[in-house]
Amino acid sequence: QTLAPIPAPPKHPEYGHLHYLAGDAPVLNFFGLARQIPEGIFRLDFPGRTLIQAYDPDLVAELTDERRFQKRIHPSYTNVRNLGGDGLFTSDSSEPNWGKAHRILLPAFSQRAMKGYFGQMLEVAQNLVGKWERTQGQDVRVADDMTRLTLDTISLSGFDYRFRSFDKEELHPFLQALARVMHHTMTMASRPPILTPEMEEADRAYWADIAAMNELVDEVIRERREHGGGGDDLLGLMLNATDPETGGRLSDENIRYQVMTFLIAGHETTSGLLAFTLYLLLRHPHVLAQAYAEVDRLLPGNAVPTYDTVMKLDVIPRILDEALRFWSTIPNYAVTALRDEVIGGKYEIKAGQQVALLIPALHRHPGAWANPDEFDIDRWTPQNRRTHHPAAYKPFGNGMRACIGRQFALTEAKLALLLVLQKFALVDPYDYHLKVKQSLTIKPEDFVLRVRERRPHE
Ligand code: HEM
Repeated sequence: QTLAPIPAPPKHPEYGHLHYLAGDAPVLNFFGLARQIPEGIFRLDFPGRTLIQAYDPDLVAELTDERRFQKRIHPSYTNVRNLGGDGLFTSDSSEPNWGKAHRILLPAFSQRAMKGYFGQMLEVAQNLVGKWERTQGQDVRVADDMTRLTLDTISLSGFDYRFRSFDKEELHPFLQALARVMHHTMTMASRPPILTPEMEEADRAYWADIAAMNELVDEVIRERREHGGGGDDLLGLMLNATDPETGGRLSDENIRYQVMTFLIAGHETTSGLLAFTLYLLLRHPHVLAQAYAEVDRLLPGNAVPTYDTVMKLDVIPRILDEALRFWSTIPNYAVTALRDEVIGGKYEIKAGQQVALLIPALHRHPGAWANPDEFDIDRWTPQNRRTHHPAAYKPFGNGMRACIGRQFALTEAKLALLLVLQKFALVDPYDYHLKVKQSLTIKPEDFVLRVRERRPHE
């Protein structure tokens, strides 16, 4: 076997590869680079750290083989653990609480379980539509309203807690604190080791924000305990269920981390998906027309959808699948080699080395997708699905560490689109040009649209 070096772009005389981390969305810098490096893998060297990004579907097929590579919580996660602790997202599979929580919570996320959340999902989606009816003709800040929708949905369905985000002009203080914490987390990762007074001040604000967020989470838990602590939602399960394998329960500390994890992971990604989807629909009127036709067929006039209406959808789910191919809202996540490995027959990956999957480049890889830059929902007909490369589509992560909330996100997103398209025509008053912003996830930045009620036969 002849080994080959992992391709790397030329180094800048002064910055090396550091400039690839600059800008509002470093992942798009990587995506641009990927388009120039056909090997489907590259490496970037930063002081003290090497970043490997892979996007060739055959390499990704190897990297997602859990016998060889798995998600590991590296020291770079330390800051995110300040919020999520050993909650599902930020714990290592080898930590006892990961397995315990995974086993306790998995049944609450099955497709069948979604039927139980439908009433809450509908209530919040109706709040969104109600707001848009009241403010017709005014600017809608899309990412903000989608965030209101998804935060209220996970908190109401999961914890029977009402944020009432649509009642207020401002985003909820929890979200404002989260945005600041995420921003600070990004700067912490790249700042020099010497502490300046400004940084000390920023650190103080960071811990104050985390304390405020914890307080809200504690309130959610306290409220439930005051009402007997029962219920068959996520919180009820966490407070009462025992692990089928060990018989153990989740500790109070761990429940707090899980609630925080669900409040964050359960809203950021889905709101980004919905915002990108509305953007893509505006750009592809023939697809939007198909969606309207489907909505009018299944939900004529002012009919109220049921869970079965959502299950009958065909066009809207394909729109979401394709939107996630185009703009996967978690665009980069990593696996770690369990032992020394060679992938693609020539690239050496040492034990413990992390390799990130570069999802935008994988999802538009010319070897796996015909006309990869075309938004084409027919890729997702049952017949065409069967022709896909098995590792070319990974919006929800991989294997046992894949997204537990996938069905939840898709059910919620289908329902929201259904209600929005039943009522509204979408208007793009400022001829929006896509600007992607990355924090924890990616979102279309400053995307503003307007809506007006649809006329009959429109
Ligand atoms: C994990 C994507 C919605 C909860 C993940 C991962 C991805 C992902 C890529 C794996 C990350 C990694 O390997 O490090 C998405 C996308 C969503 C979405 C694209 C929406 C479109 C949700 C929702 C919830 C949720 C609605 C909760 C209700 C979680 C949790 C994990 C996770 C708890 C960690 C699972 C574990 O490791 O045990 N998600 N997610 N996600 N997601 Fe999602």
